[in-house]
Amino acid sequence: MLEDDILKGAELIKQGKLVTFPTETVYGLGADAKNDRAVVNIYTAKGRPTFNPLIIHVTDLEEAQKYGEFNEKALKLAEKFWPGPMTLVVKRIPNCKISYMVTSGLDTIAIRIPSHEIARKFLKACGTPVAAPSANASGRVSSTKAEHVRESLGEKAGFIIEGDKSQVGLESTIIYCAKDVPMILRPGIITLEDISAVVGEVVKYDPDKYATAIEGNKPVAPGQLKTHYSPRIPLFMNATEFPEEFAVLAFGKVSDDIHVDLNLSESGDLVEAASNLFDYMRRLDTFPFKGISVMPIPNEGIGVAINDRLKRASQNGF
Ligand code: TXA
Ligand code: MG
Repeated sequence: MLEDDILKGAELIKQGKLVTFPTETVYGLGADAKNDRAVVNIYTAKGRPTFNPLIIHVTDLEEAQKYGEFNEKALKLAEKFWPGPMTLVVKRIPNCKISYMVTSGLDTIAIRIPSHEIARKFLKACGTPVAAPSANASGRVSSTKAEHVRESLGEKAGFIIEGDKSQVGLESTIIYCAKDVPMILRPGIITLEDISAVVGEVVKYDPDKYATAIEGNKPVAPGQLKTHYSPRIPLFMNATEFPEEFAVLAFGKVSDDIHVDLNLSESGDLVEAASNLFDYMRRLDTFPFKGISVMPIPNEGIGVAINDRLKRASQNGF
């Protein structure tokens, strides 16, 4: 029974164990964010470098404010988009009880309030903030279904609370709010336009401009690596040529002479495409294909987030 699994999961979290749970973005591999040893196990399970900090998941804004300092803009964003697929990076409050393993020694902390019903019940039952990265091996494609988690992490996923396919399908939009002008560190389904409508000026994280951005001796965006989300076989984005032995991942209407293996959205709907992206990348990452050709995705609105993931997954994105 799902309710029993939620309670069992919460119990395991309190004991310092790892628990995988569904969210509306992707599945998360969770541990008690106040427990150093439990958090270390997340890094080990994923093979994740410890300089790359984690997001804490909480149930409401009041709880979030126990750990992070919200300036006026952060508050506005929180009120507008939480619960939901948005993560805010804010300053850690003095004497913050969250493990420094979560924040990789940074003075900032990434916080999210998910909207997924199972995630919310689970967090409530845990009674402690849950640190959780996407439930996949480090550098690989995120998991939008429980079966992806088992494939990617096996036993290392700990106890799995099984839910449906993640509706959004891309990880949360991350917004750095520790300074006056908010900066989008990772694009997502909540777009720059959505954010700007709430807080006015917003800047985009630009790897060339900000790769070395330092705040008080620490990097601003430690996780924005150029390669990520990688399938095992090579992936090419904006493909206009379709070699025989390559799988074709299409978007929108396609002319009859192209052999399409999967289509992210036949009607050209970017929301649908986002929700299918990781699942389809995984499905095509298999024998007998030698590579994956992905057709161009319009680089606007949610397309920006899809292209961001494709860039990091591809051989030709940067
Ligand atoms: O949708 C999501 O955000 C999912 C679900 C499970 O909530 N989680 C997720 O976590 O995508 P992960 O660990 O795969 O990505 C978190 C990103 C990393 O790129 C990390 O570098 C960044 O958040 N991050 C965490 N704390 C940060 C901080 N204090 N400053 C800047 N970036 C931070
Ligand atoms: Mg991840």
